[in-house]
Amino acid sequence: MQKQYIIGIDIGTSGCKTILADNKGRVVASSMEEYPLYTPKPGWAEQDPEDWWKATISTISAVLKKSKIFPQDIKAIGLSGQMHGLIALDSGGNVIRPAFLWNDQRTLKQCSEIINKAGGEKQLLKYTNNSMLPGYTGGKILWLKQKEPQNYQKAAIFLNPKDYIRFKLTGVKATEVSDASGTGLFDVKNRRWSSRLLDILDIPQELLPQCYESPEITGYITKESSGLTGLLQGTAVAGGGGDAVIQTAGTGIINEGILGLTVGTAGIVAMGLESFKFNSTGKLQIFCNNAPNRWHIMGVTLAAGGSMQWFKNTLCRYEAAQAKSSGVDVYSIIDKEVMDNSTAGSKGLVFLPYMIGERCPYPDPNARGTFVGLTLRHSFADIARSIMEGVTFSLKQVYELVLGMDPNLEAREIRVSGGGSNSVLWKHIIADIFQLPVKTVSGSKEGGAYGAVLVAGTGCGIWPTIDDAAQCPQIETEVLPDTRYDKYYEKLYAIYKDLYPALKTSFDSISGLENN
Ligand code: XUL
Repeated sequence: MQKQYIIGIDIGTSGCKTILADNKGRVVASSMEEYPLYTPKPGWAEQDPEDWWKATISTISAVLKKSKIFPQDIKAIGLSGQMHGLIALDSGGNVIRPAFLWNDQRTLKQCSEIINKAGGEKQLLKYTNNSMLPGYTGGKILWLKQKEPQNYQKAAIFLNPKDYIRFKLTGVKATEVSDASGTGLFDVKNRRWSSRLLDILDIPQELLPQCYESPEITGYITKESSGLTGLLQGTAVAGGGGDAVIQTAGTGIINEGILGLTVGTAGIVAMGLESFKFNSTGKLQIFCNNAPNRWHIMGVTLAAGGSMQWFKNTLCRYEAAQAKSSGVDVYSIIDKEVMDNSTAGSKGLVFLPYMIGERCPYPDPNARGTFVGLTLRHSFADIARSIMEGVTFSLKQVYELVLGMDPNLEAREIRVSGGGSNSVLWKHIIADIFQLPVKTVSGSKEGGAYGAVLVAGTGCGIWPTIDDAAQCPQIETEVLPDTRYDKYYEKLYAIYKDLYPALKTSFDSISGLENN
């Protein structure tokens, strides 16, 4: 049979990654291009959608060139992207102002206003099954209406980042259920815009795009985008998904029982849900899954790998120089130091990873990173290890929230992805703290782009269902838990959990003094 290929594109925060894969899900070529992030005021995070589009054009052209695959053999394009953003287009399809990103913090006031207008958090959860977090699109729309009314008046449609790329590729203004869930304006249970909430907030539904299921074909490559990218005019573009959801699908997690842990800059704890679940506390994010009729539960911590990046950049000058002269990755040098000179529990040193505030389990911008228990005995290696352990405890706490919602969601294994999954040491720490096997799968280092391949491949019929597509990722490594550490880590974890409530008032006071 003639081979068929799929392209997956991920519009990330630091850059655009495009991959080309075959009909067995094997990656044939990949290309990445970075773009800048602008912070014109403290707490603001913006990007220029034109940068995303330029990076999309060049990475598509690059994978076609590298792979030497003919454009007529590409069956479909899949899209993944950073969630919760806002791109406002005028009636001519022009971008009105820079895009607001998921990590933009300016809308705290507008989010509380939305919660109040909805009749309180409990009522809001009935409409959308999610709280209105400061990063979500809903608060951004309200901000635009209040702070830049002239831009709001010009707006004919609001899109999420990957959906802007869909518009440039196909001319179609559309989204799909997973990204729509992250706007905070979507009725996740019934998989449609919440007309009740939109009415309450006085946001006309025409300003929001038509919503598809993730694998559905939403449009086709136009003559113009074909000329720019080298793709064949008429190639199908599937719905795709918001990155945090679709990258979970990309590691083969669609159903209950396998826990996805992404240890990237942020940490994502995620699982597929086979039926709708009510988000009773609003602490977790429950979104539509890329698999039709299924849902997705997750909690996001803000500084997982980010805490280790901070440690590397701030306290590892010697190791960085060593890495430079020897050509060895600096994180492997840190890992070796930890393995040689520290032990499970970091000799009683506990780290809280709230380096940029926190989203889950504590939605608290004032929470701060903390070392508790430092003594003269503690070494560089203990500090490094306590960071990995503290981050892992924070992920476990999110997992406990999931179990608190439904104990039947207990996981039998963990699939880990993101930069942290390159560390064998960290995988052992995760296995020992969770007391579960920790696996990595093929394709997981491609992040959302790989999920986009699986979802688009399902949409164009290469795989009959997403469950079939989810068989593509193959187990590459497996680390088993060491039961010797079970009780010890349990004790340390109990101490860890007591620390945030004990320090909360101090965090609030400290954050008031930081600008002095
Ligand atoms: C998910 C989330 C991030 C962004 C950026 O809720 O905030 O994963 O999608 O990647």
